[in-house]
Amino acid sequence: MEQPIFQVAIDGPAASGKSTVARLLAQRLGGHYLNTGALYRALAWKALSLGLHPDTHPEEVVEMLKGTTLAYRLRQGAPVLHLDGQEAPQEALRTPQVAAVVSQVAKIPALREWLLEVQRDCRHLGIVIMEGRDIGTVIFPQAKYKFFVTASPLERARRRLAQTGEVPQGATLESVAADIARRDALDSTREVAPLRPAPDAILIQTDGHTPDEVAEMLAAHIRQTP
Ligand code: CDP
Repeated sequence: MEQPIFQVAIDGPAASGKSTVARLLAQRLGGHYLNTGALYRALAWKALSLGLHPDTHPEEVVEMLKGTTLAYRLRQGAPVLHLDGQEAPQEALRTPQVAAVVSQVAKIPALREWLLEVQRDCRHLGIVIMEGRDIGTVIFPQAKYKFFVTASPLERARRRLAQTGEVPQGATLESVAADIARRDALDSTREVAPLRPAPDAILIQTDGHTPDEVAEMLAAHIRQTP
């Protein structure tokens, strides 16, 4: 059978449900989806482990890249993220500490440039969907299908609070909403590849819809636009 090729870009803000929808849609299309946020999180995690300060000393993080390798490799047919030759520590990537600095790391222009090829190389892994913040605008502007998946700030805070791991102990709906708003602001106002819908992206508002319903909305659009 022909290798499925990359064709769907899903972008959107934090906790909008992109990853869940991307996973469900990949199951329907047959192929893998790739969460590009994990790349930024892996670099943020390494920077923190080395005691670097991405907010005040971004040049330290750029220097760190010289001794860094980051790539998805297939294991038992599925892409697994490898950092410096080892499997990236998935749980550690979703801690509140990493969430607190990841957008500082992601706004460093040289780091985004460094990640361009890492992401474009992923096409060869049988990826049909990539999700992130700038897939439809910068990484794969030629993607056939582009979606911008979002939800109201309150709904996104509810969804994040329901996930384990990333929210700090004692977090409330208000504190989670404030953390998300801070990250949205950094992601939307940075100079390089800010979070925004591609001009030709379909906007999907997901409040009040289950992940299955949202995946079906995307699948229906793809079926109607061969
Ligand atoms: O899962 P969640 O929506 O919280 O975020 P994520 O997809 O894991 O992305 C974490 C952070 O990485 C984002 O807030 C952005 O700062 C950055 N990011 C980016 O700049 N560009 C991407 N394509 C993906 C993530």
